[in-house]
Amino acid sequence: MNTQTPRYVSRLLPLCALGLSGAASAAQILNVGDMSSSYNRNIWYMSIAVIIMAILIFAGVSYALFYTVNKFREDKHTGEPDQFHGNNRLEQLLIGVPVIIVTIITLLAAHTMAIVNPTPKDALHVNVTGAQFWWAFEYPDSKLAAGTGTVVNGNELVVPAGRQIAITVTAKDVIHAFWAPNLGGQRDAIPGSKKTFQIDTDRPGVYQGNCSVLCGASHANMRFKVVALPTEQYNTFISAAQSYKAPAPQNASEQNGYTIFNQGKASAGAAPCSSCHRVQGTPAAGQVGPDMSFFGSRNTLGAGIWEGKDREAHIKPWIQHCAAVKPGCLMPPYLKLSDQDLTDLEAYILSLKLPDNAAYWGKVPVR
Ligand code: CUA
Repeated sequence: MNTQTPRYVSRLLPLCALGLSGAASAAQILNVGDMSSSYNRNIWYMSIAVIIMAILIFAGVSYALFYTVNKFREDKHTGEPDQFHGNNRLEQLLIGVPVIIVTIITLLAAHTMAIVNPTPKDALHVNVTGAQFWWAFEYPDSKLAAGTGTVVNGNELVVPAGRQIAITVTAKDVIHAFWAPNLGGQRDAIPGSKKTFQIDTDRPGVYQGNCSVLCGASHANMRFKVVALPTEQYNTFISAAQSYKAPAPQNASEQNGYTIFNQGKASAGAAPCSSCHRVQGTPAAGQVGPDMSFFGSRNTLGAGIWEGKDREAHIKPWIQHCAAVKPGCLMPPYLKLSDQDLTDLEAYILSLKLPDNAAYWGKVPVR
């Protein structure tokens, strides 16, 4: 017999190891067992109760099996066993016990649903809209100090820790799904439909979120961050956001960026960015793409696919031709803009910053 490891096994093993380590590192970020969320805690308590019941049933059935096999072993009983037909007590037991078990599980599930499903009166409401391939987070109760409209942020959801967040989710184009596992449940984002559910966490931090329904070429690149701030810091953020006016351009570069952003550049065939993007406190009021008001205070680009330094390295290639760096990106290419114009646009959008005390990155650890 050939005792050598078959070649396909030796090839598959490293792949399996890679898969396991990938799952382990992903588990550090996306964790449905994160007990700092009351939503996750309630689901976990129910799961534990059901798991304990399952273990008891498994033990009971195993015991009965081994008892029967042992008691009626062939070497103990040479003749045919007693023959009988029907046993009412046994049949009642076989029907009664499963009915009791299923009833207990149903009551447990109903109890948990009654806790996690209703929207608490003091919940913070956030309207979430999924689109190919990014997220809009709107705060319907936070009206802008100047004029009409409410606070909106793109791809970064800022919330207070220790409070229930009522997420009302919908979609612009195809079906997406909102999922921030460390903070609780998941819901499909369906065009024309609005669903409200709760997420929460007791522990301030930056958490990872993802779209969780296959929605096109960049489904895997449709990420977002949830930044859970201590209540006071959240209040500082939201009131600064309500009264925010984009800072005026400070130098020639930012000024040129501002002009291209709001008027485009006909000689380079570039349409104004403002026809799709909003910047609070400027004429830019577009609703098609992500809100750019606090772009300079954000830490991510491309719906969470680049962060920090990586993000800065990708801003110019992104403006030039975003579909080349993120498949399926719908922003039209700006291939004829000069490198200087791209630099100026980058300088302008990076200047769009919240006041330092209201900026939310770096104030809480990444979980
Ligand atoms: Cu949006 Cu997957």
